[in-house]
Amino acid sequence: MAIDSLQGGQTGCVPVGAAPRRDTCVTAIRDEIRFLLNDREERLKAVRSSDTLLDHLRLTRRLRGTKEGCAEGDCGACTVLVGRRTAAEGDGGLVYEPVNACIRLMGSLDLTHVVTIEHLARDGILHPIQAAMVDLHGSQCGFCTPGFVMSLYALWMRDPTPSEGAIEEALQGNLCRCTGYRPIVDAANAIDATPASDPLVAERARVRAALDALDDGARVDIRTTSETGDDRVVVPASADDLAAVLEEIPAATIVAGSTDVGLWITKFMRDISPAVFTAHLAELQGVTVTAEGVRIGAGVSYDTFQSTLDAEFPHLSAYWRRIGGWQVRAMGTVGGNVANGSPIGDTPPPLIALGATVTLRRGGERRTVPLEEFFIAYGKQDRQPGDFVEEIFVPRPKAGSLDAAHKVTKRRDEDISAVAAGFHVELDGGTVTTARLAYGGMAATPKRAKAVEAALVGQPWTLDTVTRAEARFAEDFQPLTDWRASADYRLTVARNLLRRFYLESTGEPASLIREVAV
Ligand SMILES: Cc1cc2nc3c(=O)[nH]c(=O)nc-3n(C[C@H](O)[C@H](O)[C@H](O)COP(=O)(O)OP(=O)(O)OC[C@H]3O[C@@H](n4cnc5c(N)ncnc54)[C@H](O)[C@@H]3O)c2cc1C
Ligand code: FES
Ligand code: FES
Repeated sequence: MAIDSLQGGQTGCVPVGAAPRRDTCVTAIRDEIRFLLNDREERLKAVRSSDTLLDHLRLTRRLRGTKEGCAEGDCGACTVLVGRRTAAEGDGGLVYEPVNACIRLMGSLDLTHVVTIEHLARDGILHPIQAAMVDLHGSQCGFCTPGFVMSLYALWMRDPTPSEGAIEEALQGNLCRCTGYRPIVDAANAIDATPASDPLVAERARVRAALDALDDGARVDIRTTSETGDDRVVVPASADDLAAVLEEIPAATIVAGSTDVGLWITKFMRDISPAVFTAHLAELQGVTVTAEGVRIGAGVSYDTFQSTLDAEFPHLSAYWRRIGGWQVRAMGTVGGNVANGSPIGDTPPPLIALGATVTLRRGGERRTVPLEEFFIAYGKQDRQPGDFVEEIFVPRPKAGSLDAAHKVTKRRDEDISAVAAGFHVELDGGTVTTARLAYGGMAATPKRAKAVEAALVGQPWTLDTVTRAEARFAEDFQPLTDWRASADYRLTVARNLLRRFYLESTGEPASLIREVAV
């Protein structure tokens, strides 16, 4: 591995802003992104906020094994691994995740190890995953193959002997037009499970040491000028530093996992400068479980949260696994899904149903609001310039409560919801005492069905009650017709999901769902 020796960064306390305070003082600022690309050390000074990893790989470094299919995170042809340091024991202090290079922005790569398909075969010998794909005919035209190999590699690192279900889940975000998938799954089942057969395992200690050596604790602040205008990329050194940066540039675009922001660039050609990158901030990545509930740092990815979710909110396990594909779940954050205020984001309905709150921070000030009140109108959240989402708190549901979440999409995997719903009902002696039903895709914001809830509370939890309550949906929602679904379809689905929730809670025959179909 050719990793150059380091030069020192600018050190000492650097005051920032017009009236420097303790929290506007960072220990160092540097004007370059540092990371490892396969076995090469990268130090880039001319990084712009809209630069994608895929363009860097293909256009700058001529690493063309990584393909461009959709440029919007959907097809997985551009899948590479990004390794980040972790305090967890094992795996050599590194965790590697599959990401879509087409929407992964260069500003987010500081102090990471990017691994592309070119790094797998050594001395002409295929990596065990590549060998299995060849032997089992997992590739035809080959366009999708590097992406599949990288997703399978990420799975293999996590679980060398995965179940067929785990294989299918790992490949949710990879599309193939040729093979019909069976040979790829066969190849995945046939991979040599011995970690010793992986050349990257031998490199881990050196990679970790090299990343540690690159880390000077500095804020990255890169300003560039070109014919397309001025640009600024900031990578704060800590959450306090993020607060200070946002006080200085409150109109900056916060970039967490870039699974939304990446598309603003590749599909809408939007200028996101100045951009402040947050995905690396350890203080925003905590998950704390208490007797009262679970605190989720805004920077926690869907994937990172999955194991806690499985343990604490098992009714959301399957729902959560249908958000995006693995690459999107590895990149996208819970805070980003809430902050973007999308009426069809999947996390708000179940979190609102559970009574979640969101904490916003500006400078040293914090305020906490019920999640349902955070969404004011289409594209308008209760977030002032300089605020950032710090954490989401999800209260533990009362023992015996009925909870569920469902999402209805045009295709099962990696699709945005036409309608999503979260349900929470508490009973006392068979009578409904509390009902929180929250829907996405039914209004300009994620929203509770308060008229329906009112028709349930105080009534026995029976099919008659649910049927009477269904009539109130039209008071709560006047959904839009768009290419995902018609207004009639959305209202029908909303009613049916409530009925499904009721039937599943009582074990009555699911065939009764059809009674309200139009
Ligand atoms: C292929 C694909 C499939 C997808 N599938 C789904 C799906 O099934 N369900 C679903 O709900 N979504 C889906 N999405 C959308 C996306 O994954 C989510 O909205 C994601 O949670 C956004 O999080 P992020 O960290 O990537 O945010 P980013 O893209 O980085 O940011 C999103 C917005 O939130 C703001 N923001 C981010 N963090 C903060 C913060 N801490 N404080 C304040 N503002 C902040 C940003 O400024 C921006 O406005 C999909 C996206 C893609 C590309
Ligand atoms: S090119 Fe399709 S996911 Fe990146
Ligand atoms: S082998 Fe052709 S797209 Fe998969």
